[in-house]
Amino acid sequence: MSMIDFGKTDLIVVGSGFFGATVAERMAELGNNVVLIEKRKHIGGNSFSEDEAGIECHRYGPHIFHTNDEGVWNYMNQFTDFNNYKHQVVAIRDGEMYPIPINLTTINRFFSQAMRPAEAELFIELRRVYGAACDNLEQKAVSQIGLALYQAFIEGYSKKQWGHNPAELPASLIDRIPLRYDRMPYYFYDTHEGIPVDGYGQLFEKMLASDRIDVLMDTDFLTLRDAIPSDIPVVYTGPIDAYFDYSHGRLGWRTLAFERSIYTMDWYQPLAQINFPQEEIKYTRIHEYKHYTPENPAKDVTVVDMEYSKRTGECDDPYYPIRRDEDLHVYADYKEEASKLPNVIFGGRLGTYRYLNMDQTIREALDLCEDLK
Ligand code: FDA
Repeated sequence: MSMIDFGKTDLIVVGSGFFGATVAERMAELGNNVVLIEKRKHIGGNSFSEDEAGIECHRYGPHIFHTNDEGVWNYMNQFTDFNNYKHQVVAIRDGEMYPIPINLTTINRFFSQAMRPAEAELFIELRRVYGAACDNLEQKAVSQIGLALYQAFIEGYSKKQWGHNPAELPASLIDRIPLRYDRMPYYFYDTHEGIPVDGYGQLFEKMLASDRIDVLMDTDFLTLRDAIPSDIPVVYTGPIDAYFDYSHGRLGWRTLAFERSIYTMDWYQPLAQINFPQEEIKYTRIHEYKHYTPENPAKDVTVVDMEYSKRTGECDDPYYPIRRDEDLHVYADYKEEASKLPNVIFGGRLGTYRYLNMDQTIREALDLCEDLK
């Protein structure tokens, strides 16, 4: 096992993603000795990025930092500067490019119209299909954007993304489908947005630099927990079902596979992310990482990932919680068991079986540390 002397440990944190790293950083700052245990060979969880061919590439899918939370933004700026990147996405279908989220340009291009915003709003209103209930993804989407836009941009993409027909998927998988009646091409409307200038890897190293934090990498907490004194409090950000040895069953997740190519050319595509909503095209998105750091343009080389979505096998990383009714019942059982453990706190996306953005994750971790003070 490790050289760590647990006799001096005040807190064990499991997982070095944004939840675990924030808790470790804050609690060390408050004078606690923290042992952070990370299963992977790197810190940073799913937000991790690293250099490949001179380009900062995101290993688990693209991560754009965006927030309206001033406290989170100020906290993050202690560890990194952010560049001015603003995310833009298009969808390609039948060889035509459409801005995503759907905006005035998308609507006009798709319906071969030249409408003003108010005309487009009425046009969409007349196409919304309101059923008696909105209890699946398809009904909810069609009630918001109408059948034609749903079939063009949501149906095939959702089938690929979730592996099910949208009529069989819970409505809760989507909130409000963003629909804009302006021509703003940006994906997020938050006050703050950007990419850490030295990459996420460096950002996490700075967060965990305190002498009071010992990082045990390449170590699965679940295989050594019996050797750890049970009176040391634990903040656990791994999968909650794994913590309880899947005793109530496995929670449903979708995983992603990235097929990476390095090309000897300046640019592969006009922006960082292109979505492919048509079902017959097997990948969901293509990412070109160079766009995220325009201040660092590598010459004559570019790194591109094709993204495929699939059901998780036992060895796959969980990415998106499916959250069907049966999953939520299983999760409730685990939550009940977790509430009986006085010394273990479950946090982060895996520990609470939710999709969380980075800023939400950091906010929840900061709030937890306020409570633990
Ligand atoms: P995270 O998964 O990052 O960290 C958990 C850590 O625990 C992992 O490092 C894991 O190895 C470790 N662990 C698990 N079990 C363990 C065990 N038994 N022992 C030791 N270690 C263990 N958000 C956003 O704001 N902007 C964006 O652009 C994106 N993009 C994006 C793309 C994709 C494809 C996904 C799926 C998600 C995003 N996100 C995002 C969300 C973002 O990834 C998410 O908010 C953070 O990863 C949450 O951080 P956590 O610390 O909760 O989990």
